[in-house]
Amino acid sequence: MNQRTLVEPFRIKMVEPVRVTTESYRAEILRNSGYNPFLLNSDDVFIDLLTDSGTGAMSQAQWAGMIMGDESYAGARSWLDLEKEVKDLSGMEYVLPTHQGRASERILFGILGGKGKYFLSNTHFDTTRANIENTGAIAIDLMPQASMEPDTYLPFKGDIDLIALASTIHSLGKENIAGIIITVTNNSFGGQPVSMGCVEAVRNICDRENLLLILDGCRIAENSYFIRQRESAYEKWSYREIAQKMLRLADAFIMSAKKDGLVNIGGLLCVKDYTLSLKCTNQLILTEGFTTYGGLAGRDMQAMAIGLREVFEHDYLEYRIKSTAYLGERLKNMGIPVLWPIGGHAVYIDAGQLFPHILPEEFPGQALVCELFVKGGIRSVDVGSVMFGKFDNGTFVPARQELVWLAIPRRVYTQSHIDYVLDIFKEIKEMDVLPSGFKIIYEPPFLRHFTVRFERINSQSFN
Ligand code: F0G
Repeated sequence: MNQRTLVEPFRIKMVEPVRVTTESYRAEILRNSGYNPFLLNSDDVFIDLLTDSGTGAMSQAQWAGMIMGDESYAGARSWLDLEKEVKDLSGMEYVLPTHQGRASERILFGILGGKGKYFLSNTHFDTTRANIENTGAIAIDLMPQASMEPDTYLPFKGDIDLIALASTIHSLGKENIAGIIITVTNNSFGGQPVSMGCVEAVRNICDRENLLLILDGCRIAENSYFIRQRESAYEKWSYREIAQKMLRLADAFIMSAKKDGLVNIGGLLCVKDYTLSLKCTNQLILTEGFTTYGGLAGRDMQAMAIGLREVFEHDYLEYRIKSTAYLGERLKNMGIPVLWPIGGHAVYIDAGQLFPHILPEEFPGQALVCELFVKGGIRSVDVGSVMFGKFDNGTFVPARQELVWLAIPRRVYTQSHIDYVLDIFKEIKEMDVLPSGFKIIYEPPFLRHFTVRFERINSQSFN
């Protein structure tokens, strides 16, 4: 059968112009920004693939909901709509709104964490880890060795290593484990999905050891798509039913709604246990706001209630996952090394393989980020040694891989935008003069990628 063109399941009703600038202009502003994409103004970016978080486009139903938003301080109708939606989705009795994911993390881990405690996860996202470590607790990632192979196809490369999980609980002592966190999809690990089988097995371990299972489910709809495609027992289930089942396996659910909530701001913190819910409520009131708005406007909650339903629609999800794969598969066919298989929300490029002439301590990922911007006005971000590399007693310890991520905002770019990204990669692949690496001239004490500044090494032939 002929493969049909991948078509966006929407028409465009309102447009936001983007500016095409010249290569020399982009080279200059990049230099002035210390070669750091976070320090660029978005007006100078043509296609922004920095993140899929809070960058999506809302539907006409969501915008209509914004107008209907109830801004009452307490008991707002918009809150009741959101609460009903989230209770139905998660099956959890206690639902709290927050302004974004890390607020939920700070509240929950502030209560559960503390010195001497451990959290075990498939992979902690960086704000999750930071909020855990901020309490004095320790965050441990447990990924199976087989999933570390960048080129091997595994249907659920985001799964936690169950054997390592059981033995780590045993060696640390279950009384010291504050919770098991399963991140779906596994953002820090290629946006790879987590199987239902894996979450069920973790549930069994938690039941046996009397441990809390926390789901970080900000991309749970995307994960449900992969389960329906790849886990045969679910091929007839709706995406929403799959998510409902997975959420019912957990004791707590935290969500940055800026992803699969299809909103620009918002988060959720849901728990099953009454006593834990009271502690969370008290913290919420202290720093976020009253329990019926949690730092959000009524209109934001109304849009979230609608977004959480739209995100499970078949046409939307199919387009979403297939359009990410469209970019990733074509890059792979072009000979660009990508993390395989392609995940849900982003394509991860192995810049270490693409630019083997640049040493890890000279940041090959950063070189690719800069090429994409100068050549095409495309903003991406290094999630290799710029983000994770460090000096240990004067010796450079690189990241596991020199990855660059291209995160796809939801419902924002059309296929021709993505084809343009592919054109720029083709030009990079065919470049005569290879780019040089970078050295850091300023770095802050933590989360360095946000404000770091670089200088080019051997800049004669280069911008
Ligand atoms: N958990 C995961 C898996 C995430 O990807 C994020 C955010 C958070 C928690 C925190 O949520 O930003 O609303 O406070 N990820 C963004 C990203 C920043 O670009 O992937 P937040």
